Amino acid sequence: MTVGIEQMTFYTPGFSLDMVELAKARGEEPEKYTIGIGQSQQSVLPNYEDVVTMGVNAAATLLKTVSTADIEMLLFGTESGVDNSKSAAIFAKNFLGLKDDIRAIEVKQACYGGTFALMQAKDFVSLHPDKKVLVIAADVARYGLHTPGEVTQGAGAVAMLISTDPKIAEINGDSVYMVQDEPDFWRPIDSDIALVDGHQSTDVYKDMFLSLWQRYKVQNQRSLSDFAGFAFHLPYTKMGKKALEQILPEVDEERQVALRKRLTESQYYNRLVGNLYTGSLYLSLLSLLDRSEELAAGDRIGLFSFGSGAEAELFSLTLTTGYQKVLSQQNVQEMLNKRRQLSLFEYETMFTSQLFDSSEDVRSEAPGQTGRCEFLGWQGHYRQYQYKK
Ligand code: CAA
Repeated sequence: MTVGIEQMTFYTPGFSLDMVELAKARGEEPEKYTIGIGQSQQSVLPNYEDVVTMGVNAAATLLKTVSTADIEMLLFGTESGVDNSKSAAIFAKNFLGLKDDIRAIEVKQACYGGTFALMQAKDFVSLHPDKKVLVIAADVARYGLHTPGEVTQGAGAVAMLISTDPKIAEINGDSVYMVQDEPDFWRPIDSDIALVDGHQSTDVYKDMFLSLWQRYKVQNQRSLSDFAGFAFHLPYTKMGKKALEQILPEVDEERQVALRKRLTESQYYNRLVGNLYTGSLYLSLLSLLDRSEELAAGDRIGLFSFGSGAEAELFSLTLTTGYQKVLSQQNVQEMLNKRRQLSLFEYETMFTSQLFDSSEDVRSEAPGQTGRCEFLGWQGHYRQYQYKK
């Protein structure tokens, strides 16, 4: 029996910021952002979007082609939860019209939560082959204006349906994982921005990838030449290069060129969207599968998931015949092109207009009539949403 990804879809808000504009405004050389860090644009979150709306909007696209009847569980990976008690999964379950007799829960461990959800989904479906699990990985990467992390912000959600009919890719049972207590990145309960030692975080990421790669090879009796490409968690796209370059000398020059080309393909969407924490790895996978013309069914793709704090997992997928046709049902490039590019003033206004304070009844700027799920604001300390399918 094979278990894997039957369908996957992506959503990002309809606003973007150009990184050259940001660099100029922050007194940095544009090439530092576009080459040194590897970001060209970032999606910007309006105050009527959050992880619930983005997760619902991603999953709604997926559910256009899939029946909800077989979905037995909703796992929502995020580190940007909207409530300290109630799970984003329950809000999402409601708007997506999933049946009541399911399990729905939120999973948190920095950027790793989506991968834990994916692996739980795989295990559940392996035990219950007639059931499906909906996994959502949604986040807002928010470091603050005038911070070093500002260039690595972003927002979005990826939804994946896990089943015994993996039309996109089979999840091979070859994971290696590790946990190490690190003070590299965190967000105190009373803070709406992440606190980070970005350089330490980068070092932890590289070290964990290398450790897991060595373990993966021994545990699975495989080598780098077994891989057609990799998708990485990409807090910024240069991070994938820093990780991959550590192991490239293990193959000949021709294979190195091919793997670097796959890496560029896997970075393409992330370069335009920015970081989306839990969803970043899966956006990178989507980018690789959409952009590469050289991949084929049967190819093995390595995935490296990293969540600061820190926890990491390395595993592989095998591509299924016809995966391109399944993915072509959504046009991610068109979604990115349709975003309205903000001026720096509009971006800063949008950034500071988020409604974190529940103590006042207040309306967001939700335009309505968009057909998408929107956060309407606060009433009686409770979040109000609208979603008309
Ligand atoms: N042209 C080309 N390149 C240039 C340049 C120019 N004019 N000027 C500088 N650069 C290069 C630098 O040489 C450097 O390259 P290397 O990393 O290859 O050495 C790169 O641009 C960045 O320069 P700095 O290190 O000086 O940049 P910085 O101090 O402003 O910090 C950052 C960069 C650490 C990524 C920062 O943006 C940050 O803290 N981001 C948030 C945290 C983060 O993303 N951490 C990554 C791992 S954590 C994780 O994975 C979890 C998660 O999602 C957060």
